[in-house]
Amino acid sequence: QANTPVTFTDAGSGITFNSWPIANGGSQTQGGFTFGVALPSNALTTDATEFIGYLQCSTKDKKGWCGVSLGGPMTNSLLIAAWPSGDNIYTSLRYASGYAMPDLYTGDAKITQISSTINATHSTLIFRCQNCLKWNQNGSSGAAATTQGVLVLGWVQAFPSPGNPTCPDQITLEQHDNGMGIWGAVLDSNAANPSYTAWAAKATKTVA
Ligand code: HEM
Repeated sequence: QANTPVTFTDAGSGITFNSWPIANGGSQTQGGFTFGVALPSNALTTDATEFIGYLQCSTKDKKGWCGVSLGGPMTNSLLIAAWPSGDNIYTSLRYASGYAMPDLYTGDAKITQISSTINATHSTLIFRCQNCLKWNQNGSSGAAATTQGVLVLGWVQAFPSPGNPTCPDQITLEQHDNGMGIWGAVLDSNAANPSYTAWAAKATKTVA
């Protein structure tokens, strides 16, 4: 996908995101993939500790999972996996030291949801991720610094659903089968917004 952000405002929540879409119909992944962020108003001058994320993933008959790496590579980065099951989109914060099933993340990062939409071809989650831009797993640490004006991020998608889908701590996954990549997500002035605090207050739902 392009490094330059596409700015859009989600109609349901009114939240404005910088996003880096992969178009539906491209060769990288079936069905397209979009990740976006909204950041606290001062995030381009003071490193933010949290963000509001927009994660739209491709599914087949409401099955599949997708994820982002907040550090770029799969390994040694805070990972967010998300998947639909029933009427909910579940998430799990994970951490991998190798290219195998990631462990549960043991740090204090926290996801709460603002909205979730599931249709036959895509699942779309808007969520607040607190304490997500710095991570530490048993002494292995890293960070994504918003003041650098670019986030190095990774993405993956897969079509099989996780095993144990309604128990995020106990999911089982197969290696992703619908594309992956690392990109430099350039932030522009639309990423940081004076309304961030009001938007973050909409994150009242926990799905666990
Ligand atoms: C890349 C395995 C779960 C994120 C890879 C690669 C392997 C792998 C072998 C490298 C493939 C290549 O370079 O051709 C697995 C297995 C998983 C798993 C076996 C679970 C059983 C996850 C999860 C996430 C994730 C849950 C994120 C939420 C990534 C990303 C890449 C990647 C972003 C591309 C960047 C990189 O190469 O480091 N994975 N993965 N993976 N994986 Fe996973």
